Amino acid sequence: MTNILLAGQAVLDFIFEVEELPTKPEKYRAGAAQIIGGGCAANAAVAVERLGGQAFIATRVGGDPVGQTIADGLAAEGVNIDNLFRADDGNSSYSAISVDRHGDRQIVNLRGTGLGDPLDWTLPERIDAVLADTRWEAGATQALTLARERGIPGVLDGESPIPQALAALASHVVFSMQGIAHFTGDSAVGAALAVAAHRLPGWVAVTDGGNGTYHWKDGSVVHTPAFRVHVVDTLGAGDVFHGAFTLALAEGLDEGAAIRFASATAALKCTRRGGRAGTPSRAEVAALLRNGQTAAAE
Ligand SMILES: Nc1ncnc2c1ncn2[C@@H]1O[C@H](COP(=O)(O)OP(=O)(O)OP(=O)(O)O)[C@@H](O)[C@H]1O
Ligand SMILES: [Mg+2]
Repeated sequence: MTNILLAGQAVLDFIFEVEELPTKPEKYRAGAAQIIGGGCAANAAVAVERLGGQAFIATRVGGDPVGQTIADGLAAEGVNIDNLFRADDGNSSYSAISVDRHGDRQIVNLRGTGLGDPLDWTLPERIDAVLADTRWEAGATQALTLARERGIPGVLDGESPIPQALAALASHVVFSMQGIAHFTGDSAVGAALAVAAHRLPGWVAVTDGGNGTYHWKDGSVVHTPAFRVHVVDTLGAGDVFHGAFTLALAEGLDEGAAIRFASATAALKCTRRGGRAGTPSRAEVAALLRNGQTAAAE
């Protein structure tokens, strides 16, 4: 079994399907609703589990019912929650999301507050790779430091704001487009990757939704196209990509092969509704890798 430590955020989304996004102080009726667990580390942990790894999450929630729901949802997926910390007086992070008939979203988010910095983690003797996000800086710093000390891959999900010192701890930084633009001040992929590679000791890449993934290799940009699928819901695609990428590195794949594996996993997730609930199994990913078409193949 491949053990992955995921340090960062776990949240809960209350999603309402409405005709029109609310604008007035009156009651709006939802045609349907879903309660979906989210957050970078939590979504990536679920991906690791569905793909056959063992995920150990280090995260913080409040003492509220939302915190319990987040914990239950992760445990039901098989994620180890020994390091899911509940701050009795803290607030979990959660959102009310309205989605109208065009798919446009309106989000009201409560940030987690009063969650502290619980860093006394109980971990298995062997961890094969680490994934951290930027939403819990102290936790990410501890996790990436552990990866360095053990000489295993330490991946950072580069969503802004990204502290330089944190990014410099990672062996691999996989940015979002917004993340790399903020980090480098450049929004053109090639120029931004060049700046990031110059500023960081590790390997760097950026994901760009349906356009696929770009990484920096030997002084130039390598493009890996996304798989061509029927997309119905991209919520959590980036998080699932990062979980799959980290697992693949831990299993010994090189970065190019790990990007392909992660692209297939994220693309399949996009074909189903319900955020991370649509994360595929290992067998489904293997089938897409064998038979699937990427955008460039057409
Ligand atoms: N429309 C799509 N079709 C196929 N693959 C997709 C699509 N959208 C995303 N993906 C896959 O998921 C990866 C990550 O997506 P994206 O770049 O949107 O992440 P992100 O910006 O971090 O967003 P988030 O974290 O909010 O999901 C892409 O590199 C791609 O491989
Ligand atoms: Mg992302």
